[in-house]
Amino acid sequence: MITLGMLPLKDLPVPGPVASKSIGPTVEYGRYIANLIGCSECHGKDLSGGAEKLSPKRPTLRVVKGCNVEQFVETLRTVVNPTGRALDKEEMPWDFIGRLNDDELAGLHAYFVSFL
Ligand code: HEC
Repeated sequence: MITLGMLPLKDLPVPGPVASKSIGPTVEYGRYIANLIGCSECHGKDLSGGAEKLSPKRPTLRVVKGCNVEQFVETLRTVVNPTGRALDKEEMPWDFIGRLNDDELAGLHAYFVSFL
């Protein structure tokens, strides 16, 4: 109908291109990814952990403040943190999060260190 001109383009719900989130290792993109995945569902509203969670464990992510971006990415991909501790695989969705790309992980790191 559009090609036949029967449907005026200006009446379409999305009349033009939609600007996407600018992708990159930025605080803004990291916040977007963190909200999308819901890191705070398990790690607490300000990622400081806490007790008011549905799941039994609610670890703080304050340790991330002491990690550089390489260590943070390495932790999420190898499930071993910079202290050499093998992390519990039960609850944290490592498999999925470890497969985020470099910009997504670096964005998460930038976002976390901006307020942790
Ligand atoms: C379903 C619950 C859940 C979600 C969602 C979740 N985590 Fe976790 N996460 C955990 C648990 C439980 C641990 C503790 C593992 C341990 O200490 O052995 C953990 C540990 C971590 C650690 C290691 C902390 C340390 O002590 O070294 C990092 C980093 C981390 N999570 C980042 C994230 C990020 C980033 C997200 C969102 C993209 C996220 N988590 C989402 C449950 C979750």
